[in-house]
Amino acid sequence: MERFATRTRDHFKGNQINIEIKTGLEGLTPARIATLYRRAPLQRPVEDHAALWRMFEQSSLVITAWVQGRLVGLARVLSDGVLNSYICDFAVEPDVQGLGIGRMLLEQVREQYKGTQIYLYDAKTTSRFYARMGFSNLKEGLWKWS
Ligand SMILES: CC(C)(COP(=O)(O)OP(=O)(O)OC[C@H]1O[C@@H](n2cnc3c(N)ncnc32)[C@H](O)[C@@H]1OP(=O)(O)O)[C@@H](O)C(=O)NCCC(=O)NCCS
Repeated sequence: MERFATRTRDHFKGNQINIEIKTGLEGLTPARIATLYRRAPLQRPVEDHAALWRMFEQSSLVITAWVQGRLVGLARVLSDGVLNSYICDFAVEPDVQGLGIGRMLLEQVREQYKGTQIYLYDAKTTSRFYARMGFSNLKEGLWKWS
């Protein structure tokens, strides 16, 4: 599945970039995932490659974005396929943020899990992004067992 960015960043000199969106683990390695999480940045067990890989293998869905063979974005989902889906570990490489890649990844999730309630836990810095994507902030009723 190929998409083109509708906007470009200065360092792409106005050229449109070709973004490939894939589902599944194809092309992924723990090292590639760790590099993306370090750069995004996203606090995840990037030193423990076995744990990192287990997180991906045991996900219901993994969606990735690629530019010229480079992993530039990913999201994974835990879902029962009927009622509830939870998006986690969603990140886009800083040099291609703002080009619509995050939106493409989320649209794929919505397409695959339409009919289910889709949740996520946001970082404080991304609240406005999720509001723009059409998520509502529940605040109440969400509990964490610590
Ligand atoms: C959050 C993140 C995934 C967004 O991905 P992205 O590819 O940059 O987002 P997009 O380019 O698809 O943006 C889609 C829309 O949201 C807007 N947007 C993007 N980031 C935003 C922000 N921080 N605040 C408000 N709006 C934002 C864009 O302007 C765009 O709007 P438009 O299409 O209506 O013009 C990315 O910034 C990221 O990886 N951040 C660091 C890691 C992180 O915080 N992950 C989330 C953990 S909960």
